[in-house]
Amino acid sequence: NERKLQQQPLKGKKYLITAGPTREAIDPVRFVTNHSSGKMGYALAEAAIEMGAEVTLITGPVNLKPPPKASVIPVESAADMYDAVFDQFATSDVVIMTAAVADYKPKVYHTRKMKKQPGENVIEFERTKDILKELGENKTHQILVGFAAETNNVEEYARGKLVKKNADMIVANNVTVAGAGFGTDTNIVTIYDKDGSATELPKMSKADIAKSILAEVSRKQKE
Ligand code: CTP
Ligand code: CA
Repeated sequence: NERKLQQQPLKGKKYLITAGPTREAIDPVRFVTNHSSGKMGYALAEAAIEMGAEVTLITGPVNLKPPPKASVIPVESAADMYDAVFDQFATSDVVIMTAAVADYKPKVYHTRKMKKQPGENVIEFERTKDILKELGENKTHQILVGFAAETNNVEEYARGKLVKKNADMIVANNVTVAGAGFGTDTNIVTIYDKDGSATELPKMSKADIAKSILAEVSRKQKE
């Protein structure tokens, strides 16, 4: 009925959501990572379930409890996340890349703990694969949503990423603004759409931002 449809606008849709940081191992005791808390991705998973979607949450290592109804795939590295995402891609309707995927990984994984030596040391890095960009190159019917956490030139970078990654939406925020970005329960974001529009949201809880993003996605799906 009408009421149920309004409460569950995402019913029948499969949402693939990534969250948290990745960890790129140097040796068995060390890794490189970033400040992502996973809160935005988990909020999206929770909101999508509430709105009726079937949710798969691919998550890097975070200190959060996933929503009970989500199907959870824990991963560590960017390469693990790439594999998990592409396993689910064909059967997904919407992919939201909230994860802060590492751009670089150590070129060499040392199977034994590296020992310190006199003086300086250098670790060489190589690029990881850009998951969202490859999704954009291979999408058939899926709606793709990316995130962009920036310190400057937010609009320019966000619009650039929309094009480069063939995404439908990029949700951008300036991590240097108070109440936005890493670890906080609130965020201040602008949703840049492929159609050229920009929707600036006020400072809100990550739960409310999640609902706003999903409302936009749901609107797009009906177009
Ligand atoms: N992303 C991805 N795979 C990567 C890097 C990023 O899928 N290896 C995704 C992120 O999950 C996010 C979007 O691409 O949804 C933008 O990430 P961001 O780090 O802002 O963009 P980059 O293209 O990595 O550019 P840069 O870090 O240089 O700003
Ligand atoms: Ca990056």
